[in-house]
Amino acid sequence: MSDINMEEIVSWAKRRGFVFPSSEIYGGFASVYDFGPLGVELINNLKKLWWKNVVWERGDVEGLDGAIFTHPKIWEASGHVESFTDPLVDCKSCKKRLRADRLLEDKIGVEKVAGRSLAELGQMIQDEEIACPHCGMLDWTEVRDFNLLVECSIGVTEEDKRNFYLRGETCQTIFVNFENVLQSTRQKLPFGIAQIGKAFRNEITTKNFIWRVREFEQMEMQYFCHSSLADKKYDYWKKESWQWLVDVLGIDRDNLRWRQHERDELAHYARDAWDVEYNAPWGWAEFWGQHNRQDWDLKRHGMYSGKEILYYDQKTDEKYIPFVVETSLGVTRLALVVILDAYTIEEVENEKGKKEERVVLKFDKKVAPIKVAILPLMKKDNLLDVSSEIYDNLKKKFVCQHDVTQSIGKRYRRQDEIGTPYCVTVDFDSLEDGQVTIRERDGMEQKRIKIDDLEGYLRDNLG
Ligand code: GAP
Repeated sequence: MSDINMEEIVSWAKRRGFVFPSSEIYGGFASVYDFGPLGVELINNLKKLWWKNVVWERGDVEGLDGAIFTHPKIWEASGHVESFTDPLVDCKSCKKRLRADRLLEDKIGVEKVAGRSLAELGQMIQDEEIACPHCGMLDWTEVRDFNLLVECSIGVTEEDKRNFYLRGETCQTIFVNFENVLQSTRQKLPFGIAQIGKAFRNEITTKNFIWRVREFEQMEMQYFCHSSLADKKYDYWKKESWQWLVDVLGIDRDNLRWRQHERDELAHYARDAWDVEYNAPWGWAEFWGQHNRQDWDLKRHGMYSGKEILYYDQKTDEKYIPFVVETSLGVTRLALVVILDAYTIEEVENEKGKKEERVVLKFDKKVAPIKVAILPLMKKDNLLDVSSEIYDNLKKKFVCQHDVTQSIGKRYRRQDEIGTPYCVTVDFDSLEDGQVTIRERDGMEQKRIKIDDLEGYLRDNLG
């Protein structure tokens, strides 16, 4: 378990403009968060890197952006209306509602809880004498199923109003568009469809900052293939996912592990499921699900829409319902993984030779929200003229900040705290020799470089 203090992360994220509690001026809105100026840069970088890897650099995956408002039948067909539930238990004393499995997991661990029936969970809570974390009483209702779909209504008049669900996972719009994508592109099986978008879940307990929230984004890819290929493709996408995390995002592999779902833990659609887990401050936690969904979804949408969804293979003259291998990654969770993995506290010497603490976000350069900070040594007109000119030129090529106030030491620390890979300092010598100091974030090495060579240097080093 990592020893990072989550309260520190929440406070840093707000102070530095990464994540804000949503609707804060009205007292916040239960477990919903907004991404601030640097948070949005960070998640846009993550989404772009994923899209590049899964769509742009391949020929066999198409993109899609499905609507959030969907026909309610989709969620009946997908099995979510019936089976997308969590075990709920109420404290009779203080009336708080909690997830029965999470209550137990916190005391006896995930392994002993996975796959238990509602009655078993209720009994285990009694046997373990688990008291309510809010009021300390041991007075529970029986454990029952609670559906996570978020219900809404639309319509202009009262009679016209109709209920529907906000999507609980993005991939259902992929399944219902399978034939549209197939017909409008020149793809043949095997091929995939990728999507990035919002999903909504009425989570009973939200927890650990942006880890478990009610509104979040997913990056999902469904790979359609013949049933005989499904296991091979499943292994392939598992390997791809792991490599992307380690090689592209630079996540420390020691903080990652695979966990296979137990048979009785599998989602209603899955034949096999493996999660990538992160070594978070509260223990190993799942953030990327890989599922072999078989032909569950296409078969069910065929049944519920009354129109079978079949693929015709010209080569083999065979008609079949494709199998689906899915990779499903939460953007919101990935953002926290990347932050936790990068968050480092080091002891360093300041300009006066005194030891002090430095908080530095060691983001991979591709992920860092700001790539370069341009800093005049002092707020003097002649220095500002040069630094402004450099900023005006570089900001067209890289995401830059022009930071002019406070001591240079404090500005370096501020840039370290937001993970900026390079600081460029304009000093009085720059006015004479046309050179600036470039400082690298992690090692804090500094070197002089000609202003004319800056752009090329950054291009070579930022990748
Ligand atoms: N289409 C399959 C699917 O949705 P899932 O395991 O329920 O599978 C996939 O969710 C990913 O979505 C998770 O690995 C996680 O990253 C993210 N996710 C799920 N529920 C979430 C929540 N309440 N808050 C933030 N992210 C969530």
